[in-house]
Amino acid sequence: MTVPDYVVRPATRADLDALVGLEAAVFAGDRLSRRSFGRLVEAPSAAVLVADVGNAVAGATVVLVRRNSRTARLYSIAVAPPFAGRGIGPALLAAGEDFARTRGADRMRLEVRTDNDRAIARYHKAGYLPFGRRVDYYEDGADALRFEKPLAAGPDDAPAKSVAARSHAPTS
Ligand SMILES: CC(C)(COP(=O)(O)OP(=O)(O)OC[C@H]1O[C@@H](n2cnc3c(N)ncnc32)[C@H](O)[C@@H]1OP(=O)(O)O)[C@@H](O)C(=O)NCCC(=O)NCCS
Repeated sequence: MTVPDYVVRPATRADLDALVGLEAAVFAGDRLSRRSFGRLVEAPSAAVLVADVGNAVAGATVVLVRRNSRTARLYSIAVAPPFAGRGIGPALLAAGEDFARTRGADRMRLEVRTDNDRAIARYHKAGYLPFGRRVDYYEDGADALRFEKPLAAGPDDAPAKSVAARSHAPTS
């Protein structure tokens, strides 16, 4: 997962302040709280992944999986403005998809504000296709577009490895 300048790694509780700061810097509303991040960091059904630039968190993504479902959900993704344009957004997306695959998911779904042109462009470039809309989805009443991407098995997803990863997953 290492690329020049930063590494994408799972978040720990030590990242909570940085994650909350990132939310405040990037989102005007519908922010994830510190308590939510605290739960997500420890939840077996979630991955909170951060782009670590050594002395700061440059971006983060949250992916949710569910037992008995092959559909994962990209719950949040953000790149801090000073670190934009360095490929961190695409790297976080790819890392989130890798997590979903290793947990047995074969597609990723997400919601995005209809006016979030940059994110929509990124999702299109990454192979996501729109398939629906959620009316009055956000705090301010804005609608969400729903996107979906099939997650083809990658080279690291040989059946034995996938089964091993799932068999280690907690059951609740
Ligand atoms: C949505 C978001 C995560 C998308 O990320 P992004 O802006 O596309 O990601 P980056 O800042 O890494 O920019 C990508 C660009 O970096 C450049 N880049 C530089 N080095 C690169 C590399 N090694 N690999 C890929 N791209 C690289 C490219 O120009 C690329 O754009 P392109 O693929 O169109 O050519 C980001 O815009 C964001 O945080 N937005 C605010 C929060 C938000 O709206 N979240 C989504 C809610 S649904």
